Amino acid sequence: MSTPIQPIIKKKLDLAKDNINKNQLNDAENILSDLLQEDPLSVDSLVWLALVKKKQGDLKSALMLTTKASNISPNNSDILNLVGLYSKEIGDNDSALGYFKKSQKIKENATAILGISSIYWALDKKILAISFLEKNISKIKDYRIPMKLSAMQFEEKLYSKSIENACRLILAVDNNQVINNLKTPFADSLFYLAKDTFPFPNNNNVIIASIEKLLDDGSEYRNLKNGFFKFVFKDIKTDLFKDTKEKIFDEKFISEYINSNFDILNDDYFIKYLSSNLLLKRLKNSLICCHHIESIYTQTRKHLLSKIFIDKSSIGEAEHRLLSAICIQCDYNGYVWEVTDKEKKEIQNLEEKIIEDLKLTDDININEVLIYACYKPLLNNTSLVNYLSKKFKDTDEINYEVIQSLILEPLSLRENNDHIKSFNEVKDKTSLKVMNMYKEHPYPKWKGILYIPSEINVHQKYYDRDLTEKNDSNIQKEILIAGCGTGQELVTVSKIYSNSNITAIDISLPSLSYAYKRAKDNDVNNFELIHMDLLELVNYKKKFDIINCSGVLHHMKDPELGLKALISCLKEDGYLNIGLYSRTARENITKLRKLIADNNLNNSQEEIAKIRRSIILGYDGYESFNHLLNVRDFYSFNEMQDLLFHPRELMFNLEEIDEILKRNNLEFIEFDNKYQKVKDVYNKNYPKDKELRSIKNWSEFEDQYPPTFLGMYQFFAKRIDN
Ligand SMILES: C[S@@+](CC[C@H](N)C(=O)[O-])C[C@H]1O[C@@H](n2cnc3c(N)ncnc32)[C@H](O)[C@@H]1O
Repeated sequence: MSTPIQPIIKKKLDLAKDNINKNQLNDAENILSDLLQEDPLSVDSLVWLALVKKKQGDLKSALMLTTKASNISPNNSDILNLVGLYSKEIGDNDSALGYFKKSQKIKENATAILGISSIYWALDKKILAISFLEKNISKIKDYRIPMKLSAMQFEEKLYSKSIENACRLILAVDNNQVINNLKTPFADSLFYLAKDTFPFPNNNNVIIASIEKLLDDGSEYRNLKNGFFKFVFKDIKTDLFKDTKEKIFDEKFISEYINSNFDILNDDYFIKYLSSNLLLKRLKNSLICCHHIESIYTQTRKHLLSKIFIDKSSIGEAEHRLLSAICIQCDYNGYVWEVTDKEKKEIQNLEEKIIEDLKLTDDININEVLIYACYKPLLNNTSLVNYLSKKFKDTDEINYEVIQSLILEPLSLRENNDHIKSFNEVKDKTSLKVMNMYKEHPYPKWKGILYIPSEINVHQKYYDRDLTEKNDSNIQKEILIAGCGTGQELVTVSKIYSNSNITAIDISLPSLSYAYKRAKDNDVNNFELIHMDLLELVNYKKKFDIINCSGVLHHMKDPELGLKALISCLKEDGYLNIGLYSRTARENITKLRKLIADNNLNNSQEEIAKIRRSIILGYDGYESFNHLLNVRDFYSFNEMQDLLFHPRELMFNLEEIDEILKRNNLEFIEFDNKYQKVKDVYNKNYPKDKELRSIKNWSEFEDQYPPTFLGMYQFFAKRIDN
């Protein structure tokens, strides 16, 4: 590394590096071994060969080679860091610490700083690890330091400090993927920063600016359920809230206050806070999944409707912006919020008035349109759609944003049938029933850019661990997504396997059209969409390396027949990633479905609102379902349909799944890595089952923690002989 390299050697080194990038490890090894024959003291060749060895799983040789390189070039801090990293991976923390410290002494550098702190952390000296990073954070500008520090502080429940460092990073870095890896701990810190752990971090504005930045690219910020209102309302004048001793104005406080002091919605000063940029961005970008926040906006909507009803010209600028954001949220949640009888009447009158106005004049009051759109989908009113599309084509930003979200975007989700092939007819009666439901309500609704947090890189991790001989994500694979719905899995899988060909199938044409648009929004191009029943896969010629089928088989008349169809197009050494409902986890949902059936409630807008209200208020018989308040599905009409009114839904336990797999010459491999935290707990309970494969242990585990698989059992399987 220190002496200049001859061109011919450089060429060979470049070729070796290229081979390493392509995962052609044997070729790289041959070139580097030849180079070392010619010059055994070549530090470059030693270091690159060490990397090859590491990738081949031979850490001992990797360590030996880098140690040799370090002896040749003892003052090279990069090489010392490498020796430190390999020592750490081998489990020799003491040596690793020594090498990182040497490296740091030669030259202050972020890798050594992170290395030292990670060793302290591994040795359970957590406070030392944190204070070491704190001491060094301002010495070197490298985003990895605040990122690591924030994560460590979060783990140690130092939420206020964790937020500070997360903010520092979010505001300084422009790499969305880096920022997005921080979204979860950041949101959780905001949430956990409960009243008794106050005082606030000092930098209220910085926190708000950071959340706004996280919302800026239009991607949904799912983890940010609540916990951020208190920052927005922190500086509000306390005498506004009469008779309160509270100092923290969080969503619960605000919603309860509005409920008993409805008049506060007439206060311009309060409305200024309620229509702050952050809150409006949040309303427009992400599904509101918190019943307190929902209550704030349903009350506001009711208030604004009355106000417009009495005098439409009384709506100020802030209220106008608020209305625009609320109607975008309502459209996104499928109008799932509760509407009172008074509101129903007022909106009915307003609708009639708008229709009349449209006949007579070319000038409709925009706030009347917006409040109407807070209750009913604009797209269902053709004359209004035509009027708005013409009138606001190139006018002001707010109104155009509404037209874009409520008219243009939903239309664009429906217009992609030309890009969808079809294969054979859907004949099966259950498939037809299920098809009709998903035609009406494509599932799930989503928007924006989908970032894959590093821990969710499920396939990659699984590959690394289990199918080492095929662990090259650069190899082109054939992937099938059976029952792809609206395309979330398609986008995720495509980002993990960018070199692959993805075939995504579904029986719902509108879902496929939705998936097409979202895939394009996310810059995904390596796919084809086919409208078909997965039962028809038995007649399909292509074979696949990977088949994903999540949340689909349990909606079929005979899930095992569906599984057989999947197996019929699985390559001999391919694997399946299957998602099936757990009977244990869904016991409560089953009870709720029974209660709904006993009460003769149907899936209309009105009755779903009734069910939601009963759960929110904990009415008689519904008090045991309040865990649903933490489930995203609860906050969207389409998702509520899927959760509570599915025409066909079966459930399984792990023994049944194991039997089905065995009957079909398949074996259970492991749960998906999205359950990594669950796996960590399992590991502690069952340390002997290193492969995490014992169905018996997992059943016992689930009995002990029934909600573990509330989403689904999501697992990998492969043919028994492979
Ligand atoms: C609950 S959604 C899951 C969507 C997607 N897999 C996900 O996890 O986001 C179920 C999907 O399976 C599709 N589906 C159900 N039965 C099917 C069948 N027999 N063949 C193909 N698709 C089917 C539905 O149309 C629907 O889009």
